[in-house]
Amino acid sequence: MKRIVVITGISGTLGSALGREYIRRGWHVIGVSRQSELSGDYFNELCTNAQQSAEDAQALLKHNPDLIIINAGQIETEIGEMGVPLTSVTESITRVNYTFPATLSLEAAQLERNRPLDIIAIGSIADGSPSCFGPVYHASKIALHYFISGVGPIVHNANRNIRLRLYRPGAIKGPLSWAPVNRLNEKGYKIRAKRCDAAPEGHVVARTIARWIDGNEWVGTYEEPFSFKIFKWLFALAPNLFYKLQLLGWRKGSKFV
Ligand SMILES: NC(=O)c1ccc[n+]([C@@H]2O[C@H](COP(=O)([O-])OP(=O)(O)OC[C@H]3O[C@@H](n4cnc5c(N)ncnc54)[C@H](OP(=O)(O)O)[C@@H]3O)[C@@H](O)[C@H]2O)c1
Repeated sequence: MKRIVVITGISGTLGSALGREYIRRGWHVIGVSRQSELSGDYFNELCTNAQQSAEDAQALLKHNPDLIIINAGQIETEIGEMGVPLTSVTESITRVNYTFPATLSLEAAQLERNRPLDIIAIGSIADGSPSCFGPVYHASKIALHYFISGVGPIVHNANRNIRLRLYRPGAIKGPLSWAPVNRLNEKGYKIRAKRCDAAPEGHVVARTIARWIDGNEWVGTYEEPFSFKIFKWLFALAPNLFYKLQLLGWRKGSKFV
């Protein structure tokens, strides 16, 4: 019998590439989208789902998958005056990037399983980046990271067949990687453009992620640039200094000053 993978955000850059990769591997791919009509060679079955509530999560679990990749994600493509995040966008990003992955993981923890279920949440190495590059996105991804490594061990202890794991990609060639430019001045734009131009294609990232899923690591990650690591160390070890650095970063990198 074919193994079943459920992939959310199937219509996007990484989702469609993951779908193709798992079809190539002989899996049955259930692609999840908010859209009711979608065609392509990257899923076997379309599952239309709003990805908001516990009922939406239960509907995905009814497919009885061996693997779930919670890949749907959103970034700030619209911002308010002076770069202030919009309430509606913040709610939507937080829901898809953090709340729904958490809900789906907890609903899965209730399942009575006699075979393994791997749940892979797609995070980002961007958490902790300067705020002009998209703070609401960073906040939701860091919350997701914390949830998976905080709640994952509890779920695994309660239900040995279920593993919550996290993969953190960096920039992938495609529209989402360009979205953070909407707050940037010329200097910031050049920094982002350099990362986007050097970003790998979706199919390369999908293959890397699928190979990683085959292994047993709990958190997988792109090799992070040293500058990203410095921000994370400061965030953890010197939070007040980190805030001051963000104030400085906003002045240096944003177009609103
Ligand atoms: N691209 C990058 O540079 C990059 C870097 C690091 C991490 N990531 C992460 O990788 C994942 C995939 O990124 P991507 O580049 O493939 O993004 P993408 O091309 O924008 O695709 C994301 C998909 O998620 C779904 N989606 C968006 N907003 C949603 C919402 N509010 N509720 C439910 N579904 C929603 C959309 O599918 P439907 O409209 O069909 O529902 C969309 O096609 C995301 O979690 C992203 O954060 C991406």
